[in-house]
This record gives sequence, C-alpha cells and structure tokens, in this order.
Amino acid sequence: MCGIIGSVGRDGETLDVLVHGLSKLEYRGYDSAGVALTGDGLQTRKCAGEIDDLRAELEHEPPAGVVGIGHTRWSTHGPPTDENAHPHQDCTGDVAVVHNGIIENYQSLRDELVAAGHTFESDTDTEVVPHLIEDALADGAGPEAAFRSAISKLEGSYAVAAVVDGTEAIFAARNDSPLVLGIDDDAYYLASDVPAFRDHTDRVVYLEDGEFATLRADEWIVSDGTGETVEKAVNTVDWDPEETGKSGYEHFMLKEIHEQPRALRQCLRGRVDELAGEVDIGDLADLSPTGVQFVACGTSYHAALYGAQLLREAGIPAQAFLASEYATATPPIGDALVVGVTQSGETADTLSALREARRRGARTLAVTNVVGSTAARECDHVLYIRAGPEIGVAATKTFVSQLAALNLLALGVTNCPDARETIAALRELPSDTQAILDDSTAESVAEQYADASAYFFIGREHQYPVALEGALKLKEITYKHAEGFAGGELKHGPLALVTDDTPVFAVVTGDDATATKLVGNVKEVEARDAPVVAVTDGQSDVERYADEVLRIPETHPRAAAVLANVQLQLVAYHTAARLGRSIDKPRNLAKSVTVE
Ligand code: M6R
Repeated sequence: MCGIIGSVGRDGETLDVLVHGLSKLEYRGYDSAGVALTGDGLQTRKCAGEIDDLRAELEHEPPAGVVGIGHTRWSTHGPPTDENAHPHQDCTGDVAVVHNGIIENYQSLRDELVAAGHTFESDTDTEVVPHLIEDALADGAGPEAAFRSAISKLEGSYAVAAVVDGTEAIFAARNDSPLVLGIDDDAYYLASDVPAFRDHTDRVVYLEDGEFATLRADEWIVSDGTGETVEKAVNTVDWDPEETGKSGYEHFMLKEIHEQPRALRQCLRGRVDELAGEVDIGDLADLSPTGVQFVACGTSYHAALYGAQLLREAGIPAQAFLASEYATATPPIGDALVVGVTQSGETADTLSALREARRRGARTLAVTNVVGSTAARECDHVLYIRAGPEIGVAATKTFVSQLAALNLLALGVTNCPDARETIAALRELPSDTQAILDDSTAESVAEQYADASAYFFIGREHQYPVALEGALKLKEITYKHAEGFAGGELKHGPLALVTDDTPVFAVVTGDDATATKLVGNVKEVEARDAPVVAVTDGQSDVERYADEVLRIPETHPRAAAVLANVQLQLVAYHTAARLGRSIDKPRNLAKSVTVE
C-alpha cells in the first residue's frame, strides 16, 4: 500500500535519497508517486504512474532542498491521477503533506474547510491535512504547533509527514499506520518501511501510535500527544541491504522462492533438537493454551488453517478465522489464545481482530516476520518466522516460514504425539525444498497449461490449505481464474466447472485413507476429461490418473505441505512469466494492506 520516505541532512542529495527510497517502497503496491522538497522554496512534483514516470517528470526541473518527503500512493479516495498523487498542498503552497491510511472524518473536515474558503485540488482524504495546517499557521501557530493542531483533528488511521516552507524540518505523526525513523551520523530519515532507507543506515526507531517526530539536520525528537519528549530505543536491523535487491533473478518472487531453503533454516535455527525430539520456543512453551483462535488474511489465513489443524491433531481445539470477519463478528473467545498470523504485522484487518480479542481480555500472540511491527508490539507474545525481507507482493518464503513456525508452536505448546517424526521432517525441509528447486518441472507444466480457461486445486487435510494457497498464488499473479477446494467438496458444486480446458492440480501425499480418497476425487475430474497435474511424493497410485506429475520428496505429511506448496509457487510464477504479467507488482494489489 502507500509508502512514505523522508530525508533531512543530505544536502545536495535529498532528491536522490527520496527517489531511491520510493523505488524501494514500490513492492508495497502503488499507482502514483511524488516528492516535495524545501530549502529553496517549497517545490512539489508528482504524477500518476510509476517511479520511472516521476523520474521523467523530475528531469525537466529537478527540485532541490535540504529536507524532503516522498510518497507512493495506492488509491483509496479517488482514482490514480496526477491531482490525487501525494504530496498534497494547502492554498498558499507553503505546506506539503504525505499520508498513509484513511482519515475517517475527512468529509466533515473538508466541508468545514471549504465553507471557510479553502480550495481543494484532489479527491483525497489527505488534502484536509495541509489546509488544517494552513489555518493554524494563519492563526499564528509555529510550524510544529500547527502540525500538532491539524493532527489533533484527525480520526482514523494515519502515518503523516509534513514540510513547511522556510522550516528545515519534517514533522510526522502516527496512528494505526507504521512509521519508522532511520538514524545516521549526519542525516535522519523517516519511512513507512525500513527498506526505504536501509541503504543509508541500519539504526532505526519505531514510532508508536499517538507519537510525533520532528527531524532536523541536527536532531531527532519523538514526543507524545502532549508534547512531552519520549525516550526511544534505537534498534539495529539485522538484515543486509542486498536482501532487498534481486541478486540477478528476473523477479523478486523468483528470488524469494529460491531463498526458501535459507528462510526455513533461519526459522528453525536453534529451535529444534532432533536428538531430544523437542523444540525450543522459549517462554512461549508456557502458554499452555486450552484453545486457539487464529486470525489472518490471504496467504497468512491459509497458514492459519494449517496451524489450526496441527493444534487439533495434538488435541487442542483450534480454529482459523478470516481476520476481517473476526473483527466485526467476533466469536466467543473463552480462554482461547488468539494468534494473529501476519507476515507484515501491519495488516489492518488482522490488527483489528487482535485488538478486538485484547479488548475482550484474550491473550494474544503474533506470528510475524517483521521485528517491531505493530502486531509484534501490540500482542502479548511474538513468534518471529525469520524469513527475511519479502519484496514481491505474492507471499512465498514467508508462507513456508509461517508453516514451519506454526509447527514449532504446535510442538512447543502441546504434547504432539509424533513430535520426533515431525522434528526430523522439519530438519530435512531446507534440503528437501532445495531438491525441488533444483529439479522441478513446473516450468514445462506451466507452459503447457498457460492458456487454460481456469484452474482448480484440490487437497485434503494438511494439503487443503496448500490447495487454497496454490489457487491464490496463481490468480494473483496470472489474473486467471483459479479456485482451491477440499477434495471432498468437488462433487458438491465445483465439479460443474470442470472441463477439458480446466487443469486440476491435485496435492496427494502419502498412501493412507486420505490419499485414497483424494485419488478418488482425481478420478472424478479425470472422467470429465480435465487435465490432471498430480503434486505427489509417489506413494499413492495417483500418477496412473495424472497427465503431469510434480514430484516432492517423501516426508511427514506436515512437511509435505510445505514442499507441495513450493511446486505450486513455481507453477504460478512460470505461468505468469509466460503470460507476461507484472509478477512482483500485480495489478490492484499491495504488499501490506493497511486499510480495512
Ligand atoms: O502481511 P500479512 O501476512 O498480514 O498479509 C496478509 C495478506 O494480505 C497476504 O498474505 C496476501 O494474501 C499475500 N500477499 C498474497 O500473496
């Protein structure tokens, strides 16, 4: 979703820092971009389209200044036009503002401002902010006080940054939308996400809801709503800037798929003891839940479905809920532990669900990738999945790391009957995943079916979430219709859609009764002439009914889910590549969905 970058102290380089920062935020998804610099007058440039369109715009008359803010916008109020792009300005042109989130009371504020004589140039909710600052300045407030006055009138979610002509400072505030400061020896940065300034510094300060920041060339100050200075810890991020580059891969998604063995190793490092048949998840082992409710969205919801099954297998009642539904139609929680599964830790729906659970007195746990994220800070407990930064909008390595981490959680808080076997399989996951990456024939399968009219994915038990995720991955980056089903559900409706032009991907692992039932489902689609692609470890006889086979190593069914998913990621990637899609930034989608 929208991204913010700000820079103070990089004289002569401010514009480059801003544009570079914006390019690092592209992965969040956006449809317009802009910058504002001050120092030699306030100059703003913005346009609909991509960062390259903005670069072209900047070439004519590059703005200069010692202080600047930049923004990538993902439309919520009004279409992606030049006018709606950020930064937004007041009537005098002395104030420029960028904003992530949604200002819920913007219409009434706008009505009041228009009635008072202000002229608006855009459809956005954001534009009320520079006009509110303008009013406060006109009333005699200094720039910082004017900014605070404007923020005090806002309701909703926001990360806001503003610059005022004649003042070499950035003023910022956050509520429900992430904002982080970058601290360097001779410069300060501000961003919605660390990659925006990670090339310049690894020292960061995370703002909390309700906090303000003021950045000047010689100081950074964080304060609360009353203006009291807040002492903040300076953290060090533990990943390299190169991790946010493509390292020679054509797309971030492909790079991230290939990073999965390492991501899994990182997730498991120091947490599994194969000899003892135990996992070490620190204090989380003391959680001893009598019930678990997972809340999550999208890919993370599929991980949550899988996690709930693991806990149920160990005798703990557990359910996965779509966070957006849970937040408004919250089920009885009782003593359940509420677990938010969220790669970014910033997904608004998941945060809402977790907040509702907390409001009702529940204990909460965040399973997340991002240290210092809102979910990590707001929940009572955190389990980091340690996947490293994921740039591609399509979640890949974070999904497999979520699955691995949820195994650790299930093993750590329950007396899992087959803990030793599961741990042994987890230990093999990185090398088993590498084996798939080395030998997969997914590219030729993808080429063969790239023109199909629709795609179906079926699985049962552990492989059901994998089927759902296979379909989501394919649809989001190919723009083709794809659905995942529990194998048993096929004949209750979806079978009507199955034809010789709808490949069915069947995830069949093991050779137990569940596998036999899924092979039965495969026969049902084969009888309707659908091409069948079996993702299998070769233990069942599914290959007899399959047109194509994607092999995974034999392993425990829980680990098989991770491996089958890797094959389906590759199918989605190669199909999208074949169709020439925008793989890393699919249309209409954002990496981090920070609005409900
Ligand atoms: O950051 P989160 O894990 O909370 O994100 C939730 C979904 O928006 C996300 O998983 C989305 O479905 C994926 N990017 C799809 O690949």
